[in-house]
Amino acid sequence: MGLLDGRVIIVTGGGRGLGRAHCHELARHGATVVVNDLGVGLRGEVEESEMAPAEQVVAELEAMGATAVADGTSVTDWDGMEDLVSRVVDRFGALHGVVNNAGFLRDRILTSMTEDDFDSVIAVHLKGTFALTRHACSYWKAEVKAGRSVSGRVVCTTSGAGLFGNVGQANYGSAKSAIATFTQIVALEMQRYGVTANALSPIAATRMLATVGREAKDDGTWDPLDPANASPLVAWLCSAEAGWLSGAVLRVDGNAVQRVSGWAVTDGYTAKSGESLTVEELGLGLQRLYGVMPRGLGG
Ligand SMILES: NC(=O)c1ccc[n+]([C@@H]2O[C@H](COP(=O)([O-])OP(=O)(O)OC[C@H]3O[C@@H](n4cnc5c(N)ncnc54)[C@H](O)[C@@H]3O)[C@@H](O)[C@H]2O)c1
Repeated sequence: MGLLDGRVIIVTGGGRGLGRAHCHELARHGATVVVNDLGVGLRGEVEESEMAPAEQVVAELEAMGATAVADGTSVTDWDGMEDLVSRVVDRFGALHGVVNNAGFLRDRILTSMTEDDFDSVIAVHLKGTFALTRHACSYWKAEVKAGRSVSGRVVCTTSGAGLFGNVGQANYGSAKSAIATFTQIVALEMQRYGVTANALSPIAATRMLATVGREAKDDGTWDPLDPANASPLVAWLCSAEAGWLSGAVLRVDGNAVQRVSGWAVTDGYTAKSGESLTVEELGLGLQRLYGVMPRGLGG
């Protein structure tokens, strides 16, 4: 009996890199996998082959004896994502999980970033994650309302750039940070319907990482940057047994899974008057808050 036997999972951007590795791991544990991929270039440009990477992965999964289908809808297509959820449910009778993974980069320093660099990256990561998750969650909510039990799973992909910030990625980091928060809100709202939502922050030598000069090892030894390192976590999060964990942000670095905590109030300064803060006291108050020695007392 596989961990994911009978479960139907959609993986966006499943044709390459991390998404492809997730599809393999999900299929290995018995899932039926819907491999969504638009087949775009590194900066999101549409390539001639279009769906080819998704079809290639489906062929690989079928060769393993798994059930898989390819889909070439862009995750940014709102109606297309709704249609994808309905087609999957019509064909396989149910949907159990969505893995939001599709994306591309348009890295540029802020003062050179164009409107299109910003909009396209926000669209593919944040809107794409919203679109599929929204339609999947509506389906699960309707199932619960119809009296059927649900074990829905949402896995989103955030990144170090979103959690910690990174130069040249104002568009991408903003989208990935928002995805972490989006995941937590989905977790809160969907808890009552038997749906969990968790976010994964991977690090892997894919073509995306190659743009920043990190490449995969190919000497046959275990590679800390192998995209497959993150996939067991994705498979487990998609399983029925993962129902107790929701709203988590988990970083996978090589062979370690790490719990990431978000914004936290660490210290405070309260107005001396007991009423509103004043401009006059804020300079000193903030210096105290940040441990900066007031001018005249330090070096
Ligand atoms: N590689 C890393 O180290 C790393 C680190 C943190 C986060 N991530 C995230 O992991 C995810 C996968 O990245 P990767 O490194 O495997 O990249 P990748 O370029 O190898 O794969 C991304 C896939 O998404 C597909 N895609 C792009 N736009 C699409 C759209 N509109 N609709 C459907 N499919 C689309 C592409 O065709 C491609 O096959 C991304 O969300 C990325 O931001 C990657």
